[in-house]
Amino acid sequence: MIINTFTEQISEWYTLNKRELPWRLTTNPYHIWLSEIILQQTRVNQGLGYYYRFIETFPTVQDLANAPEDQVLRLWQGLGYYNRARNLQVSAKTISNELNGVFPNNYHDLLKLKGVGDYTASAIASFAFNEKVAVLDGNVFRVIARFYGIHNDIALGSSRSVFKSVLDELIPNSGKACHTFNQAIMDFGALLCKPKSPDCSNCPVFANCVAFDKKEQHLLPIKIKKIKIRTRHIYYLLIKDDEDNIIMKKRDTTDVWAGLYDFPLVENDKQLNESEITSLITKQYGATVHRLQVLHSAKKHQLSHQSIYAHFIELSKDELSLNHENFQSFSLCEIKELPKPIHIANFLEKFIFIN
Ligand code: ADE
Repeated sequence: MIINTFTEQISEWYTLNKRELPWRLTTNPYHIWLSEIILQQTRVNQGLGYYYRFIETFPTVQDLANAPEDQVLRLWQGLGYYNRARNLQVSAKTISNELNGVFPNNYHDLLKLKGVGDYTASAIASFAFNEKVAVLDGNVFRVIARFYGIHNDIALGSSRSVFKSVLDELIPNSGKACHTFNQAIMDFGALLCKPKSPDCSNCPVFANCVAFDKKEQHLLPIKIKKIKIRTRHIYYLLIKDDEDNIIMKKRDTTDVWAGLYDFPLVENDKQLNESEITSLITKQYGATVHRLQVLHSAKKHQLSHQSIYAHFIELSKDELSLNHENFQSFSLCEIKELPKPIHIANFLEKFIFIN
């Protein structure tokens, strides 16, 4: 029967081809949770270093709960989507303070943690507790869409239940075998049934794969993107105080960099010339700018919904009052330890020699 064949063959393929990854050598739910949050929107190779640094710096969920937010965000620096780090800490506090430090041990309770959705709850429940629940991430969507020739748009929430019911038929009965199958199908998607160049000649299930039969591998899965990309030109103002400290501010908005530190700034959705930048600074900060020098314009930094163009401008402290309520001055040593958006960290490393 195709169903059994698929499950068994994918699991067997995994036994022979799996990647040795550190979070696969543990059943510690805290470590597995960290790995799964880090790996959302992040490639395994990039995530590995972050995983090791997090479990070394915060060996227990209590250590993470008790850490200063700045330290957590600084450790996350470079991974992006900083909400993930903030939610990690909110949930660590919940576990530490409200659940007596005991990690939730089933899908239903895991789902109550902030930042934990269906995929992450299933992954932790399966990998740490051998619960019989199927994981459905981007890799799994692709493998299932291709093998069964499913044309539903995976960007639609309603498609989840279609794929979930297919998976419910596929997952083995024992929790341990289900754990293996979940890891297997994700690795199979990541290593063999890849988005652009699937390795069909080495595929153990190609003979029953609908996409292979119809030559539709490149069409599936169907994902109709409706995201609108917002362009932001951000003009960061570099100002030193009398002691040569640099003025920075903590972002308190709800945007992608909330909680991170950047410089005073003006911003616009289009690129501005020097006189436009000058009048924007005057309007926003009531400053009189005499000479404006763009020190550096970084190349485009692409986020999922935003194109960021960061420009860096040097201003003298006589031009812009430092008495703004959220301005803080930091020495170069202090700046090194602050969590910063990666384009700011890159700029500081290249031009101010802070790394
Ligand atoms: N991506 C997300 N979770 C993963 C895991 N457990 N192993 C490999 N890649 C993953």
